Amino acid sequence: MTIYTNNFLSSINKELAQLNINLKKMIVAEHPILYAAAEQLFKAGGKRIRPALVLLVAKITTTDTKIKPEQKRLAEITEIIHTASLVHDDIIDDCEKRRGINTVHNMFNHKIAVLAGDFLFAQSSWYLANLNNLNVVKTISKVITDFAEGEVQQGSKHFDNKISIQDYIEKSFYKTASLIASSCKATTILSNCNKNVQNDFYLYGKHIGLAFQIIDDILDIVSCSENLGKPAGSDLKNGNLTAPLIFALEEKPELNQLINQEFQNTADINKTIRMIKQTKAIQKSKDLAEEHIQLAIQILKNKYSNKNIENLMLTSYYILDRIS
Ligand code: IPE
Ligand code: IPE
Ligand code: MG
Ligand code: MG
Repeated sequence: MTIYTNNFLSSINKELAQLNINLKKMIVAEHPILYAAAEQLFKAGGKRIRPALVLLVAKITTTDTKIKPEQKRLAEITEIIHTASLVHDDIIDDCEKRRGINTVHNMFNHKIAVLAGDFLFAQSSWYLANLNNLNVVKTISKVITDFAEGEVQQGSKHFDNKISIQDYIEKSFYKTASLIASSCKATTILSNCNKNVQNDFYLYGKHIGLAFQIIDDILDIVSCSENLGKPAGSDLKNGNLTAPLIFALEEKPELNQLINQEFQNTADINKTIRMIKQTKAIQKSKDLAEEHIQLAIQILKNKYSNKNIENLMLTSYYILDRIS
């Protein structure tokens, strides 16, 4: 599931390998149960897309393309925060598998998974504080508030067929794009960039994050659990109405009935997936993701020109290519 065998990441291969080693050292848990939570982070991997973005942005924005130790640490912090959010998200989404292994609440119980997620958030905060950069602390700590905002927004619209694309994008900003935007911005703060550059990379990360969530939501409908390392079709089961379904509703109003009945069984879910695939909804969702990738690229194109920008662009396209 890792992406760092890809060529465009060859410039940061070494750093990504070191990141995996450091993550193991960073999460120190005395209690075996908390350690099990940390295993989510180490044993199963994950694509490491967020740290890859931090490292690439660092290479672009530091004067000598030499990634600073604080930026490497930020890449690690970002992955820990992301993993903490997944531990909590999997409780909310009642998700049994993550990165191909059992989720914490599935292995233990809900109470332990809440504590395990908190434990990871707390450890990330400690490392964040130790960067000794108040601006970075302010930028990154806001993300944890945003996760809660996003999850609550999503929860309040379960099986709500009135949900608009705007509602969906706003929720996706809080749940997913905020972390990517803020970690790209924090990387530029650590490179001592001015406010304009900070803002460019924040917006870049925001659009990349939105595209990433849209693609994840398409994959939930068109891919299989084996490839994803987490159950496919779970958004529908949980009543999380995402871009493909929102677009499909425009073409097939008969989907409203299935939503109102809260997809009573697997047959209803399969029927809904079949109906979505009969419409242009998957293509429209992919177009929307591509629009955000293009917006992200336009922000940086022509302004920043060192060889590392190309690798960042290729990473941006990788996000889209996940579904082709
Ligand atoms: C999953 O993120 C959650 C979303 C924001 C869609 P990833 O797809 O990056 O998960 P891992 O880290 O590779 O497991
Ligand atoms: C993104 O949403 C998860 C977080 C940002 C915490 P999803 O609910 O779509 O993520 P997956 O599909 O469970 O990985
Ligand atoms: Mg989820
Ligand atoms: Mg998902």
